[in-house]
Amino acid sequence: MNLIRSKKRVADHGEVFTPAWLVEAMLELVKGETERIDARFLEPACGSGNFLVPVLKRKLAAVQVKFGRSDFDRRQYALLALMCSYGIELLEDNITECRANLLEVMADYLSLTPADDLYRAAFHVLSANLVHGDALTMKTAVGDPITFAEWGYIGKGKFQRRDFRLDVLTGAASFSAEGSLFAGLGNHEIFRPTKTYSPMTIPELARQSGSAPEVAA
Ligand SMILES: C[S@@+](CC[C@H](N)C(=O)[O-])C[C@H]1O[C@@H](n2cnc3c(N)ncnc32)[C@H](O)[C@@H]1O
Repeated sequence: MNLIRSKKRVADHGEVFTPAWLVEAMLELVKGETERIDARFLEPACGSGNFLVPVLKRKLAAVQVKFGRSDFDRRQYALLALMCSYGIELLEDNITECRANLLEVMADYLSLTPADDLYRAAFHVLSANLVHGDALTMKTAVGDPITFAEWGYIGKGKFQRRDFRLDVLTGAASFSAEGSLFAGLGNHEIFRPTKTYSPMTIPELARQSGSAPEVAA
């Protein structure tokens, strides 16, 4: 694996990829979380997903162990695992590649084709969760505040989505710090969603996707 693409990109954007052996060693430090299907992971300078891809693979292995006997559950929980993967990346080619890499992992695991609703739902989720933007300013490439979707599986094939602004979420950490004047405030005061959606099924999520790209052969 090449750890750099060009000297210019290293100088301009600090683009040096983490080698796979180091990623695995780091993930072992939080092994339990990497195997918990609904544990949320944010890679704030995600490149092409050197952390997100192996995390998703570990979660899908957990899905297989827990739900492998039911095709329905296996599909719902695989999507939930994907829904818990988040990234921010400054460079457009990297974020596009990152989305494609995660989609390919999903497609391989569930033998999906671009015509499948689940493939298209996964594409929609990736479009929301993997943001082309700046993790430092917390703005998207077009200057809007970065918002992240909090997804939950509420059973019977339905998923709940609520959106939150990243700058509010990160600011909330200081509010809850010990000794803070605001430490006594309940989370409900701080974690206000910018948008709450009606529960959605996989076909409904699929309908929200634009044209999903084909996974490269
Ligand atoms: C050191 S690489 C790491 C990529 C990947 N996380 C890994 O470990 O292999 C840093 C990545 O962050 C991106 N990047 C640099 N500044 C950023 C910023 N302010 N916000 C988001 N991404 C940024 C670069 O384009 C590059 O892809």
